[in-house]
Amino acid sequence: MARKKIALIGAGNIGGTLAHLAALKGLGDIVLFDVVEGVPQGKALDLAQCGPVEGFDAEIKGTNDYADIAGADVCIVTAGRARQPGMSRDDLLAINLKVMKAVGEGIRQHAPDSFVICITNPLDAMVWALREFSGLPAHKVVGMAGVLDSARFRTFLAQEFGVSVKDVNAFVLGGHGDTMVPVLEYSTVSGIPVADLIKMGMSTQEKVDAIVQRTRSGGGEIVALLKTGSAYYAPATSAIEMAEAYLYDKKRVLPAAAELNGEYGVSGLYVGVPIVIGAGGVEKVIEVELTDAAKQNLQVSVDAVKELLEACRSIDSSLA
Ligand code: APR
Repeated sequence: MARKKIALIGAGNIGGTLAHLAALKGLGDIVLFDVVEGVPQGKALDLAQCGPVEGFDAEIKGTNDYADIAGADVCIVTAGRARQPGMSRDDLLAINLKVMKAVGEGIRQHAPDSFVICITNPLDAMVWALREFSGLPAHKVVGMAGVLDSARFRTFLAQEFGVSVKDVNAFVLGGHGDTMVPVLEYSTVSGIPVADLIKMGMSTQEKVDAIVQRTRSGGGEIVALLKTGSAYYAPATSAIEMAEAYLYDKKRVLPAAAELNGEYGVSGLYVGVPIVIGAGGVEKVIEVELTDAAKQNLQVSVDAVKELLEACRSIDSSLA
């Protein structure tokens, strides 16, 4: 069987980390694409030299030519600008929309059968624009946010409860931004709902509310600390989990930005929801019962995504 091919569009902090993880996990041959000359080639060479030590034999190529992504099974897109301190994800919109146009055209031309995972922010708008520009079917284009947001939520809950992160399952809906909706009713420790753990005295509602808030601004907390960029280890790990679900037909149930067609009362937008990822791409959108409060929060999040799409349409009339 021929090896799988993973194309990483953007060879910055996340792109480089993605390449390292994909090589260590033996996902397949790797192509690192970037517009900056030398960076993808240099990173590819450095990564290839991990091979003898780590024992992987993937071919790792750096390139500035889209033709090299031809035949990719998975494309993971991080091309664009990352946030600087004081910048919101939305400030990136105009800059990264242009980047999505170039990337979408590159994928349309050279890797139209791939499964595309977008990470570039503002995520919910960029993944939508990438689908529009690439012309790929919606079930083959997803946005990575929910796995990362719920990983942040799980980390903070595990620290609060003093238990292993492995046993904490958390559920985050909505857009990737300050309006994301961590859903406590579906967040558990080995099946025990968080609300029950509060009743048992393992935490308080105030502390859990503070964790919800910290999760919402989890990316900003890291930007403020790093000062020269945004998070990259956890975003890369999260996208690799999604790529593995597709490549190995795992039917994983993961929160991700997917195009909705009536689910949760939303149509034609990318919103973070639980989906099943397998060899067919997005095989199912799972629609769970929500409390009225969660529904309201989701609506706020959906409205924020709608506003971003309007902004995209006003910048690029081909999206109208
Ligand atoms: N095509 C390909 N690559 C591009 C393009 C383009 N049109 N424009 C910029 N790039 C490249 C840059 O040259 C850089 O190498 O994208 C890379 C981005 O890397 P970083 O600046 O290190 O950003 P990173 O931390 O990887 O984040 C990338 O993901 O989480 C989001 O907000 C984040 O939008 C940002 C993206």
